[in-house]
Amino acid sequence: MFIDTHCHLDFDSFDDDLPSVIQRALENQVSAIITIGTDIKSSERAISIAEQFSTVFAAVGIHPTDCQHTTSDDIKIIEDMLSHQKVVAVGEIGLDYYHMRAEKEKQIQVFSQLVALAKDKHFPVIIHNREAHSDMLALLDKLKPGASGGVMHSFSGDSEYLQKVIELNLFISFTGNITFKNAKGLDLVSDAPIDKMLLETDSPFLTPMPFRGKRNEPGFITYTARKIAETKNLSLEKVAQITTSNAKSLFKLQI
Ligand code: NI
Repeated sequence: MFIDTHCHLDFDSFDDDLPSVIQRALENQVSAIITIGTDIKSSERAISIAEQFSTVFAAVGIHPTDCQHTTSDDIKIIEDMLSHQKVVAVGEIGLDYYHMRAEKEKQIQVFSQLVALAKDKHFPVIIHNREAHSDMLALLDKLKPGASGGVMHSFSGDSEYLQKVIELNLFISFTGNITFKNAKGLDLVSDAPIDKMLLETDSPFLTPMPFRGKRNEPGFITYTARKIAETKNLSLEKVAQITTSNAKSLFKLQI
């Protein structure tokens, strides 16, 4: 059994066939899926999808590319959403200096507020970091998001950064891009302790081989899991078993 700990089922590309996407995931032994909000509206949609499908859970948050106009009222709305029984994490939150759709200071402010909220309410965090390594490291040191647990999703960075993230009590996850030909970062996959790893698709993005170029979906998680198994010299069953147990304990999933 697998758990897809990060996807975006509320995005347009799932509008026409969401029930079959979730059915195909089940057929591929994906027994739980966490769909991640990226702003207030997207978080509302994530909750509504989780209400419709028993295997789907929701995370609520404001993505760093969508935070330029975030107000304290928005933070309060996210806080209220945490009382919903299918909400299991605060995310997606973080820093994104690649797209830079919000000023750095604003990204840092919103990220800090949402980490504080998660810690206060004892929810794990789902962190996005793109081309903001040194500011992210400084913030991790200062804010200690790992106090209530969390994950650095779609991990990119070097082995020193990986160590730091693990020391701060965060899990890490890799996406389908580790299956690409000449994939970078496979040394990080082998360095990362399996008991600190989660599985994710980040669908509809980052589709693994052999479906690269098409829309990604939770049922494709097996391709990434197989690559992790091969890279770490473990059986696929072992990877499934350990990452599932990691995800269940981090997100307190009752499945
Ligand atoms: Ni995401």
